[in-house]
Amino acid sequence: LLNMTEAELYSVYKSVYLPKHVHPPESLKYYEDFTFRPDDILIITYPKSGTTWMQEVVPLILSEGDLTPVLTMPNWDRVPWLEEQQAIKLNLEQRPSPRVFATHFHHSMMNESYFKIKPRVVYVMRNPKDVFISSYYYYGMASYMVNPGTQEEFMGKFLDGKIMMGSWFDHIKSWINAEEKESILYMFYEEMIADLKGSVEKIAKFLGKSLSQDVTQKITDHCVFKNMKQNKMSNFSLVPEEYMDQKKSKFMRKGIVGDWKNHFTEAQEQRFNAVYKDKMKDVKFKFMWD
Ligand code: A3P
Repeated sequence: LLNMTEAELYSVYKSVYLPKHVHPPESLKYYEDFTFRPDDILIITYPKSGTTWMQEVVPLILSEGDLTPVLTMPNWDRVPWLEEQQAIKLNLEQRPSPRVFATHFHHSMMNESYFKIKPRVVYVMRNPKDVFISSYYYYGMASYMVNPGTQEEFMGKFLDGKIMMGSWFDHIKSWINAEEKESILYMFYEEMIADLKGSVEKIAKFLGKSLSQDVTQKITDHCVFKNMKQNKMSNFSLVPEEYMDQKKSKFMRKGIVGDWKNHFTEAQEQRFNAVYKDKMKDVKFKFMWD
């Protein structure tokens, strides 16, 4: 797969670029036909916005702080991505409620059952400049992704949405404009960094769980970056090096807010800001990074 060209790597599904080998036609068909239950929980993100983090927090809230699920199941089995190939094999129809899934789909890509059932959604957003930097390192270490080229070249692709899961701007706009707002909890990566304990409480409340202070504290302690990074069920160290070369860059890389400032040139910042301003001009939503 190394050094595949874009044309070889991606297919276009509902106008969005998807890596073909991760989302073959049978996976997309499986997702299209998937039936949600009213008590399902969906973790929805644009890639590199805090998916893995939420795949740790939500199961721990449901288990009331029992670490077993996060220490015994890899994150991709614990909270499977519905659009990925392996979902088919996990027998998700047999899982007990409440089931927790992840997806990187835009709102417009969700299936018929989603719009009928309206399961609960935790939608996590992150400053797109940090998403961009995190993506750049990820594309550089994952052999199944297109070589990102220079940061400058990758920025063009990111801003044009010519990368996995398409445009960050379209993703965000699609979800903040969703009509089923009462079933969606909007979270920011930045608020989890600023106050993880408060975030755990907020998510627990949304999920209808009341946790003691001790349990909330235990979940928080486990999920801070330096501790969660050690969990081999969540740091992707179970993935063979030929797919993810963590010698190039760790999956759990820095886990901070504002790393873009260490990477952007002045010109890149201006370029990014100009596109952001244009694409977000009609958006009323208050983002934590603005
Ligand atoms: P960085 O590359 O900026 O470090 P995703 O899971 O959506 O792919 O997002 C990955 C990003 O979330 C990476 O960002 C990763 O380090 C960060 N992340 C994962 N777990 C985290 C945690 N417990 N605390 C802070 N950041 C975390």
